[in-house]
Amino acid sequence: MASTEGLQAYEEEKLLLPLPKEKGWASRHLYLFQHFWCPSTHIEGVNNFQKHFQAKDSDAIVASFPKSGTTWLKALTFSIVNRKRFSSFDNHPLLTSNSHELVPFLDFIFHGDNIQHKLSYLCNMTEPRVFGTHIPFPSLSNSIKESNCKIVYICRNPFDTFVSSWTFFNKIKSDSLSEVTIEEALEKYCKGIIGFGPTWEHMLGYWKESIATPNKVLFLKYEELKEDVNFYVKRVAEFLDCPFTEGEESDGVIENIIKLCSFEKMKNLEVNKSGTVGRNVEKKYLFRKGEIGDWINYFSPAMIEKLSKTMEEKLSGSGLSFKTCL
Ligand code: A3P
Repeated sequence: MASTEGLQAYEEEKLLLPLPKEKGWASRHLYLFQHFWCPSTHIEGVNNFQKHFQAKDSDAIVASFPKSGTTWLKALTFSIVNRKRFSSFDNHPLLTSNSHELVPFLDFIFHGDNIQHKLSYLCNMTEPRVFGTHIPFPSLSNSIKESNCKIVYICRNPFDTFVSSWTFFNKIKSDSLSEVTIEEALEKYCKGIIGFGPTWEHMLGYWKESIATPNKVLFLKYEELKEDVNFYVKRVAEFLDCPFTEGEESDGVIENIIKLCSFEKMKNLEVNKSGTVGRNVEKKYLFRKGEIGDWINYFSPAMIEKLSKTMEEKLSGSGLSFKTCL
């Protein structure tokens, strides 16, 4: 009889073998799984999550396309929903833990075997539980879709997302993979070949859902959050049914949350300067520039034309658009 590990490998192979496959940016392969490009390292976790995760009505899910502001939105959401439990901003968990440790990715929790152990960990988590995910909306577990839990989604101008991804993946790639040039990367990006991509499908999945069920999905853009973080912190709190009271506003709670989660504050915390999170990602690489429009320093005119055309083609008629600062 096969061991649990052997059995799992066999199941994975059976799952993976028929799928279209491409060379990944940072992981060895991307597989076209349920209409999105799933990194080979994530398939098992995604699959287990879909089979076993039971959402609770009080859960908050931070969903995002990678490199769109996940680390930031996780920190904001965690501090908003836990502000009664952690009311001291001098002694806050975010000062000693990275937001990815406090708000774990669902597929990462479900990576590996011993599902019972994972389920009891999830059952015992303090409520409201906050989770992260990069999984596209159609592939979320039914229990997320059917329960009253809420989803806060963030995306970002694809020009900046692309540069953030390219610089990040070249830093974290395994030694056995060669560096991807920016032109090669853009070629793949425009074809949708990037972990959890195509980017447009990902954004449009959550965009359409936020229009159809605005109480279920709140759709945010990195640029808008940056331009008026105060407004959006209040918006997220209202959406998650924990609006700020007048007393909290006048006591500066919103300002404290914004400061605690700011790029400068988080980047300079000792806890974020060394060590790793998740699948061995160095925490310092999660904080690069945190700016809008840095893409201009990387794109040639031909690259601008290519991505602009692709965006026009993929997003036209959807009502979703981005300012590109051109
Ligand atoms: P840049 O590479 O453009 O600097 P994610 O968290 O989804 O991986 O997104 C990473 C991007 O968000 C990076 O963008 C990173 O610098 C930026 N970022 C990280 N923390 C941030 C924060 N607290 N505020 C604003 N941007 C942040």
